[in-house]
Amino acid sequence: MTEIRNTIRFLLNDRLIELADVSPVQMLLDFLRIDRNLRGTKEGCAEGDCGACTVLVGRLLDGKLTYESVNACIRFVASLDGCHVVTVEALAQPNGPLHPVQQAMVDTHASQCGFCTPGFVMSLYGLWMANPKPSMQDIEKALQGNLCRCTGYAAIIRAAQAISSIGEVGKDPLVAEREKITQQLAALRDGRRVEIGGEDERVVLPASLDDFAAVIEANPKATIVAGSTDVGLWVTKFMRDIAPVVHLSHLDELRRISVDAEGVTLAAGVSYTQALPVVVRHFPQLRELWERIGGEQVRNMGTVGGNIANGSPIGDTPPALIALGATITLRKGTRRRTLPLEAFFIEYGKQDREPGEFVESIRIPFLADGGSFAVYKVSKRFDEDISAVCGAFRLKLDGTGRVADAVIAFGGMAGTPKRASNVEAALKGVPWNDPSIDVAVAAFEQDFTPLTDWRASAGYRMLVAKNLLRRFYLETQDKSNVRIARAAAVAV
Ligand SMILES: Cc1cc2nc3c(=O)[nH]c(=O)nc-3n(C[C@H](O)[C@H](O)[C@H](O)COP(=O)(O)OP(=O)(O)OC[C@H]3O[C@@H](n4cnc5c(N)ncnc54)[C@H](O)[C@@H]3O)c2cc1C
Ligand code: FES
Ligand code: FES
Repeated sequence: MTEIRNTIRFLLNDRLIELADVSPVQMLLDFLRIDRNLRGTKEGCAEGDCGACTVLVGRLLDGKLTYESVNACIRFVASLDGCHVVTVEALAQPNGPLHPVQQAMVDTHASQCGFCTPGFVMSLYGLWMANPKPSMQDIEKALQGNLCRCTGYAAIIRAAQAISSIGEVGKDPLVAEREKITQQLAALRDGRRVEIGGEDERVVLPASLDDFAAVIEANPKATIVAGSTDVGLWVTKFMRDIAPVVHLSHLDELRRISVDAEGVTLAAGVSYTQALPVVVRHFPQLRELWERIGGEQVRNMGTVGGNIANGSPIGDTPPALIALGATITLRKGTRRRTLPLEAFFIEYGKQDREPGEFVESIRIPFLADGGSFAVYKVSKRFDEDISAVCGAFRLKLDGTGRVADAVIAFGGMAGTPKRASNVEAALKGVPWNDPSIDVAVAAFEQDFTPLTDWRASAGYRMLVAKNLLRRFYLETQDKSNVRIARAAAVAV
């Protein structure tokens, strides 16, 4: 018999919060500003884009406490059970000295109107704790999800570089008291299922993966919430009623990564940030794509499972994972089935997922020896923008320079992420050379009838798809770089 708790418990700065009444759509930002009068955290866009609402959330994963920047505007309060929320108010006591991050912002004149400043401070705080001497690249990556409309970024970058000359990270309370906080959070984890609210307002945090499977099977219409970087916007932008809601981000079993001789398996709740080191080690060609998904806060929350399950035609991971030959495992109750990732996407808005079933894991096989792979993301803005077109290519040549195998998958070209099967067929068995590419690019017209929307016109999309194949071909001509690791930003 599963034991049940009817409250959400988490630490907010130095206080324990216990809530019996949590709406399924209640966001952390509203809770902070309205319920707790903590107004340092700002609302800019309410859709995860501007970073004005950035706070840190610490959570235990396999006993280790990690703090990450998140967007409070799209983070559900219910998902915080067992976490430590740190807001800008925790940094300096009233009339006390400024925190080193704040002092650095003052010293380098990194704030004008100040609206974005608390968000930048929290992103920089998270960066400094994890990496006190960041490189320029590290700083830019940590700030991809923060927008400033008046100061400009040069002074903020100087602030990031100055923090360690002002304060010692080891003396920061979140570092110095890490053991105590870890114990406090461990004590909050009682292994119970959390259930809040009545029928129309029900929120469930299952006790384990098996419990999650049972809850979803019994409530097939429930909304599954992983990182909430898509679902959060259904609430803040479309005012959708999403109850009943079942959260999974607290389940350690859905955050496991395993590597064996043949490939990598990501449990569906693994976040982009968590997966990055493993992805980069085994699939270096994916680094740039991965680091251009959302901003740091979105990558800290968002999951690969969520990117696949939402079935978007412009999700960034499906084209790359389809080209790599990935499979997904779906689970309903105790039954599992595994299918090629491409087969999951049936048509726009329709995936091969039965009621009561969920995505449990994604398996990515290693690239065969001598194979080439590349993925290119084309978006209006380089950082924190969703693709207009995303193309991924995997190629294997035989000993005579002919194409033994070509797998080509695109996002942004159809109602689902989709393989270019006519282009693949045109390439099969022919020499990998200019005349073959000229013939093959024409086959894109049979594979795709792209749409015109505000991201790109149909004609532009078709031209980009053809040019990406040409680009891939040209890059494979550089024999010193058989494993290609590039992604492109092209102004539409
Ligand atoms: C500012 C911003 C920038 C973004 N930039 C990008 C980008 O550059 N590229 C990109 O591809 N996406 C981008 N996104 C979209 C989003 O971050 C991704 O799609 C992300 O991977 C979604 O994962 P999640 O865990 O947040 O999913 P959620 O929002 O929690 O869920 C998404 C959908 O998947 C379902 N779901 C989640 N997990 C499971 C599961 N295990 N089984 C079954 N169903 C499940 C949910 O019910 C929901 O339908 C961006 C979003 C924001 C807010
Ligand atoms: S308010 Fe803009 S990211 Fe949250
Ligand atoms: S200081 Fe005004 S928006 Fe950044």
